[in-house]
Amino acid sequence: MLTASGPDLRALLRDLPTLRDDPLGFFVDLERRYGPVARLPFGPGRFAFLLSDPGAIQHVLQDQARRYTKRTFQYTTLSLVTGQGLLTSDGPVWLRQRRLMQPAFHRERLTGFTASMNAAAAGLAERWSVAPDGQRVDVDRAMLALSLEIVGTTFFTTDLRADAPQLVSAVITALDHVIARSRNPFAPPIWLPTPAHRAFKRAVGALDDAVTRLIAERRAGPPRPDLLQMLLDTRDEDGRPMEPRLLRDELVTLIVAGHETVASALTWAWALLAQHPAAADRLALEADAAASAGSLDPRDLPFATAVFDEALRLYPPAWLITRQAAEDDDIEGLRVPAGSLVIVSPYVVQRRAALWPEPDRFRPERFLEAAPQRFAYLPFGAGPRLCIGQGFARLEGPLILANLARRVRLSTESALPAIEPLVTLRPHGGLHLHVTRRVASATPERSTSTL
Ligand code: HEM
Repeated sequence: MLTASGPDLRALLRDLPTLRDDPLGFFVDLERRYGPVARLPFGPGRFAFLLSDPGAIQHVLQDQARRYTKRTFQYTTLSLVTGQGLLTSDGPVWLRQRRLMQPAFHRERLTGFTASMNAAAAGLAERWSVAPDGQRVDVDRAMLALSLEIVGTTFFTTDLRADAPQLVSAVITALDHVIARSRNPFAPPIWLPTPAHRAFKRAVGALDDAVTRLIAERRAGPPRPDLLQMLLDTRDEDGRPMEPRLLRDELVTLIVAGHETVASALTWAWALLAQHPAAADRLALEADAAASAGSLDPRDLPFATAVFDEALRLYPPAWLITRQAAEDDDIEGLRVPAGSLVIVSPYVVQRRAALWPEPDRFRPERFLEAAPQRFAYLPFGAGPRLCIGQGFARLEGPLILANLARRVRLSTESALPAIEPLVTLRPHGGLHLHVTRRVASATPERSTSTL
């Protein structure tokens, strides 16, 4: 039997500035004070529930997912960028598009991406390994550019490297505006030509231009066996191609969701490794051993995978998942009236002491010792709306970590950066680390040398 408790309206109004300025701290505190089912007043006769109980999360995201929609403030605001794309759509449009795209993410297709992921990561490793020893590099921006490059080669068979600076800036500007809007209950209508709205429209325009160019270039050239082609070639029952607007929305979604999230996870992984030299050594030695068998294969990289998984536990990029109850529901005795907002924060759940021993400690080994409890680990969400890119990201992340760890060491004298909870979790002020060239060890078991 689940019961909920939480602040009353007066206490909530007092805490609103905290919710606006430090939403992560607000939700962590809410769970600590009121337990795994916290309830907040949310308009007349309506409630928001913060669920951190694995059973309740399973109920909403998986077992009774059809009773819940994505028609929440979070996703409505995000749809200003991604429109009716897979991440923000609902109902029959979502189902049709999900079925259409799912085959592009099958395991065999993903394995075929290993070579281009390795090549892109090795390119960055090469550039960094010839930098003067100790040079500071902007890891956050580098991970964004690298993951965007990989989206380009894998989904669109296109080299996006030349476009990366503008595209990365456009995505960040657009997403930052989404966040600023969602934190301001008095945000003016988007059509008003304020400076912020103009900057937002320019950013979305840059994404639209990139997508238009991708489509035009493909139509002018030969077909390719990739996701872009699949979207271009699809026909409905009446033989009509996908509507141009929906095609744009799906491509923008793939660009945004496909690189910003992975980059955030990798940035935090490097931040953590810079604080934990023993883990960085182990990662590098594993990569040396794996590389001695030829090009890097994720099956030879269990520790790199565990590092990526642990970074996703401590810093889940998608730190907030929301749903609206479309009808009255009952979660193990807890009444959830239609219209209620349900919030699941992977950040809160994945740091709960009741679910994770030493929850705040970076210990990748935990993922080698035991599989995480179901619904206590949800960096990719769960149920029918589970991230379509999960397999892709869990291939890409460890490959990038291993390729770079073989060639360079990233270090810092500073503490971990503070978290900025934007659309994803970003390090406040970025992440600047010192890069030092590393010589791969010939006998990986014995040497830990770094230059
Ligand atoms: C570490 C990397 C990633 C993380 C942490 C992540 C996280 C998530 C989460 C939590 C959701 C579910 C949201 C919800 O239930 O409301 C989601 C959905 C989604 N993600 Fe990812 N994602 C990652 C990588 C990717 C990649 C590489 C792609 C590329 C295609 C992608 C595309 C999507 C899409 C299209 C959806 C919507 C799926 C649907 O509703 O059918 N994501 N992601």
